[in-house]
Amino acid sequence: IIDIEGKLVMPGVIDVHTHMREPGITYKEDFTTGSRACAKAGITTFYDMPNTIPATTTLENLLEKKKLANEKSIVNFGFHFGGSKNDNVEEIKKVLSSGEANTVKIFMNVTTGEMLIEDDEILKKVFKNSKLVLVHAENEMIDKAIELNKNCGKGLYVCHIPSENELKKVINAKKNNELNTKEHPIYAEVTPHHLFLNTEIRESTERNKMLLRMKPELREKSDNEFLWEAINRGEIDTIGTDHAPHLISEKLEKITFGMPGVETSLALMINAFNEGKISLEMIQKLMCENPAKILKIEKRGKLEEGFFADIIVVDTQKEWIVAVDDTIESKCGWTPYENWELKGKNTLTIVNGEIVYENGKINDIHKGKEIDFSK
Ligand code: NCD
Ligand code: ZN
Ligand code: ZN
Ligand code: ZN
Repeated sequence: IIDIEGKLVMPGVIDVHTHMREPGITYKEDFTTGSRACAKAGITTFYDMPNTIPATTTLENLLEKKKLANEKSIVNFGFHFGGSKNDNVEEIKKVLSSGEANTVKIFMNVTTGEMLIEDDEILKKVFKNSKLVLVHAENEMIDKAIELNKNCGKGLYVCHIPSENELKKVINAKKNNELNTKEHPIYAEVTPHHLFLNTEIRESTERNKMLLRMKPELREKSDNEFLWEAINRGEIDTIGTDHAPHLISEKLEKITFGMPGVETSLALMINAFNEGKISLEMIQKLMCENPAKILKIEKRGKLEEGFFADIIVVDTQKEWIVAVDDTIESKCGWTPYENWELKGKNTLTIVNGEIVYENGKINDIHKGKEIDFSK
């Protein structure tokens, strides 16, 4: 981090957890709108989740998705392959051995998509045949995922941990040197919405009762506080947005799980820095450095391909109000943080050495590159 007269030069944010909705659900988001939202907010690399239509559970579907992202994304990108309830272990082996992806995402609870795996034998096979497994796991499913990682896994990344109870399970496992080893490490992710929002805010208006629904559901204010304390004790590895856009009409019509996140995550964290809740060093670790290490992005490609010049300039003193207007790049067109007054904003985004965003203007001439492990 370099301080240039109040503005910070930082590595670009790497968002481990986004749902860009392409292919199949592109009325909610696509690689163009999703990547523009990233560029604006300071995210230079996003990783996309497999619960699209079709799901990213075959090599062929993954290659199709890659083609679309290569054509459209203006920031860098990577993909988590999906574990299927119909046993796609042969596809997992193909994808990982060819280097088309190096991570597998599985869903152990009900959420958006049709990817819930309930069969223990399939779960075991997925862990046995994967490197790092990312899990959507709530409550007891966290215990199960930790067991699976210990007995047959090579690494576990617990997504969007929402509460003190669930986080304690993961922290205890991380501290246990039989459960968290070099052979099968454990990583903890929290989202901005589980840090900044809670049931009190959700229940405060009829609108919020519908909008602020996601999996895992928001918890209490005391859970927000426990998550912040854990961050400052160094017990959390990453902040991923779980950017899960749905149209506002869908959200208001019936309970729909997920909310957008990429356009506000860094600004919310810089604002938290201004409020004395977190250091800039910790923000950099959770949003840039640790994601790169965990995803092994530092080993991708070659230096001369320009992958490493992913840089942002953040004005930590810029005051602004989060508005729901045409400055929103995400196709979903809304944010749970409407009218929040924040101090701190990204002003410049450089991807692969090219400026893709500067002071309110997106430059979409340049295309992002895929994080490629096949070389
Ligand atoms: C996500 C989505 O909409 O894709 N929804 C959510 O509530 N978080 C799926 C997920 O991450 O569980
Ligand atoms: Zn999830
Ligand atoms: Zn998610
Ligand atoms: Zn240029």
